[in-house]
Amino acid sequence: MRALVTGCAGFIGSNLTDRLLAEGHEVIGIERFSSYYSRELKERNIAAARESPDFSMLEDDIVDMEEFPDVDAVFHLSAQAGVRASWGKSFDTYIRDNILATQRLLEFYKDRELKKFVYSSTSSVYGDAELPVREDRLVRPISPYGVSKLAAENLCYLYWKNHGLPTVSLRYFTVYGPRQRPDMGINRFTNAILKGEKITIFGDGEQTRDFTYVDDVVRANYLAATSDVSGESFNIAAGSSISVNDLISLIADTVGKPAIVEHSGKEKGDAAHTLADTSKAKELLGWEAEVDIREGIARCVDWFSQRV
Ligand SMILES: NC(=O)c1ccc[n+]([C@@H]2O[C@H](COP(=O)([O-])OP(=O)(O)OC[C@H]3O[C@@H](n4cnc5c(N)ncnc54)[C@H](O)[C@@H]3O)[C@@H](O)[C@H]2O)c1
Repeated sequence: MRALVTGCAGFIGSNLTDRLLAEGHEVIGIERFSSYYSRELKERNIAAARESPDFSMLEDDIVDMEEFPDVDAVFHLSAQAGVRASWGKSFDTYIRDNILATQRLLEFYKDRELKKFVYSSTSSVYGDAELPVREDRLVRPISPYGVSKLAAENLCYLYWKNHGLPTVSLRYFTVYGPRQRPDMGINRFTNAILKGEKITIFGDGEQTRDFTYVDDVVRANYLAATSDVSGESFNIAAGSSISVNDLISLIADTVGKPAIVEHSGKEKGDAAHTLADTSKAKELLGWEAEVDIREGIARCVDWFSQRV
């Protein structure tokens, strides 16, 4: 297939790009190298892809673009990520990169032959929902980030409903693995333990998370793109949860060094617990997570320890 991957130099986008190229597909990336974290890290993420004759990249901002490439499938991953940074004046960026950018893409592709438009949504659309959460539960985000991602998910749905654009939304639950963003927990915790530095945990560490390994997320994107399903949202998660305290112990055991932990106040916008029911993805996409947290952490420690 000829695929468009937006946010191709980001954490998940670059993993997806490499996988598509490895399977013989052509990838056109769009990337604007936003300043949320360093360009150097993102350049490293796409260094291997840049060597491939099947990869090309448009260095641009989606909101400023008039035209997009003619492709079979769109994997829309670009966004301003991060719950904690979404308060205050920076919400402008969330509106622009998450809502406006999605609307621009949908508007362009609505009249074109597209096999699938796969949107990267998030568990943050649920807020503090009853667990394990199913896709038909009330979506009521508790962070500005969640609001912006839900607005874009709703846009994907309404372009399917009104224009027949075959959109699918994948609600990822905390993704981890090689290239994880530097602001995210497993990256921060692993690097701190490897270097013998202090870890700051928000709250008492008893909050629990359903962590999802990036290769599983990449596979979900591929299955969504090649399925017959449209107009639907799916939970993409391991379907099991672990507390932040237990996660840090697991990383420390895997590294073989102690964790030095300090606690700071709870962050506004963070859900207390997340846990997904993933039976819909299993039934309609034939998708199930394959990497459990032990295996995923072992792979992460291996990857991060080669880069400290
Ligand atoms: N990482 C997670 O745990 C997680 C969980 C749920 C959902 N998601 C979603 O998955 C997607 C990818 O997340 P990630 O962690 O890889 O983030 P990331 O920040 O590593 O990647 C996003 C990329 O998009 C680019 N970008 C942002 N706005 C752009 C624009 N207007 N035009 C062109 N490029 C632009 C950024 O420069 C960045 O490289 C996002 O949509 C995010 O909301 C991520």
